[in-house]
Amino acid sequence: MTDAHYSHPKLVALYDTLNAWDDSRDFYLSLPRAAPERVLDAGCGTGMLATAFAAAGHRVAGIDPAAAMLAFAMRREGSDRVDWHCATLQAFRSEQRFDLIYMTGHAFQCLLRDEDVLAAFRSVAGLLAPAGRFVFDTRNPVAQAWRRWQPDVSRRTGRTPAGETHEMFHRLLEVDGPFVTFETSYRIGAGAPPLLSRSTLRFHEAAEIAERAGPAGLCLGELWGDWDRSALSGDSPEIIVSLQAE
Ligand SMILES: C[S@@+](CC[C@H](N)C(=O)[O-])C[C@H]1O[C@@H](n2cnc3c(N)ncnc32)[C@H](O)[C@@H]1O
Repeated sequence: MTDAHYSHPKLVALYDTLNAWDDSRDFYLSLPRAAPERVLDAGCGTGMLATAFAAAGHRVAGIDPAAAMLAFAMRREGSDRVDWHCATLQAFRSEQRFDLIYMTGHAFQCLLRDEDVLAAFRSVAGLLAPAGRFVFDTRNPVAQAWRRWQPDVSRRTGRTPAGETHEMFHRLLEVDGPFVTFETSYRIGAGAPPLLSRSTLRFHEAAEIAERAGPAGLCLGELWGDWDRSALSGDSPEIIVSLQAE
């Protein structure tokens, strides 16, 4: 089961409006060392970044378990240059080998159980070309981003691409150790009933990530704390990790 915001057609159509191009996409697009690289976008969502990689000349595959997100991605301009698959990172297998595998937009936080993380790392280890890298981001738990997931501070309003009004806000439901559960309420069109999406995310610690990489045959390459490539520190908002084969 995927969260409603990745499966309800109206919410999928709103995704890019609420998650426009930002510094994180520039960061990922600057990672390839040469063109063309063989690239896998794990958790590609609506395909904004995967199609940008393809437009930059890379050979790109995109995977996502949410069929509606993938269907949206497959309708994008330039989508015919990407090889799309409906799969989780844990389950995805291919004969292809990739120079760069990335997982953006905090999709890594959808991996809730230790065995999910290990299975994802094992998939990656089998898919990486020699000297290939797996780069992904997860919100730094010390920054406690969930404290801002309340209606009064998270409310956003605007217009959909179709010109309807929209309103969105989060409501924090539970913090249980590293697991944070919240509900997102969307209202699309004046007077429409709210569409609700409930999510649980895991806030991973950097040390745990490094510990889990080893048994899958991966080791830590680089560790950043923000999209400007600053080093991870006590108050960094992000944990951005680059793993490579041992
Ligand atoms: C917040 S969206 C990020 C989408 C895109 N990467 C971006 O940055 O815009 C999270 C995406 O991760 C996908 N996802 C969730 N669990 C996943 C898994 N185990 N493997 C791969 N993708 C997953 C969801 O379906 C969703 O499309």
